Amino acid sequence: MKLVKLIANLGYGSRKDVQWMFRAGRITDAGGGVLYADDKVEHANIRLDGEPLDPPAGMVLMLHKPLGVTCSRKDGGRVVYDLLPPRYRMRDPALSTVGRLDRDTSGLLLITDDGALLHRIISPRSHVPKVYEVTLANDLRGDEAAAFASGTLMLESETTPLLPAELDVLEPRKARLTLHEGRYHQVRRMFAAVGNHVEALHRVSVGGLGLGELPAGEWRMLGEGDVASIFGGG
Ligand code: URA
Repeated sequence: MKLVKLIANLGYGSRKDVQWMFRAGRITDAGGGVLYADDKVEHANIRLDGEPLDPPAGMVLMLHKPLGVTCSRKDGGRVVYDLLPPRYRMRDPALSTVGRLDRDTSGLLLITDDGALLHRIISPRSHVPKVYEVTLANDLRGDEAAAFASGTLMLESETTPLLPAELDVLEPRKARLTLHEGRYHQVRRMFAAVGNHVEALHRVSVGGLGLGELPAGEWRMLGEGDVASIFGGG
């Protein structure tokens, strides 16, 4: 790929903007040698204003989604992309969230431009468990874990039962729920189906990847080991 297109696709500017960056000598190799638009150089050997470029297509990051932010690209309010560098919105291929978390849900959200990886993570066939910490409005009755594990629970207006899910009760109104699929508002609707109401919802892990110490609103780029851990159990 031509260098101008490569850099423009990373969101640093239009092709015209990037042409000007070359003319201004802002694009160099790692040794500081000025590069020209038709040079053939490895991504890792390119610098813009002395800084390495963002990762090429195939990047995956993990965001600790705070409350009050939506997963859509356009919304009247704050969206998850507002928490990333502004140029990330201009990348081609575009970044997408791996599934969604509701505006009122916090926790681990994956964002990637790798469509095949995205589908692999969300496909129930991949068996990537997602773990949620749930705070409820009412005390648990004691029969919820069996209902969720049954594989026969039907949510309102759906035609297929939910896959079995595991519920660990932590306190009378707190529990950890592990899901193996991702349906619309699934956790809230599951608790509504057993007569309760979710007051707070937080996702702690996707597969074997946890949030760790990442503070709310912060993100970090994932390496190959992190991505492998998503498929490596929980
Ligand atoms: N289930 C929900 O109800 N909401 C989420 O954000 C995620 C899972």
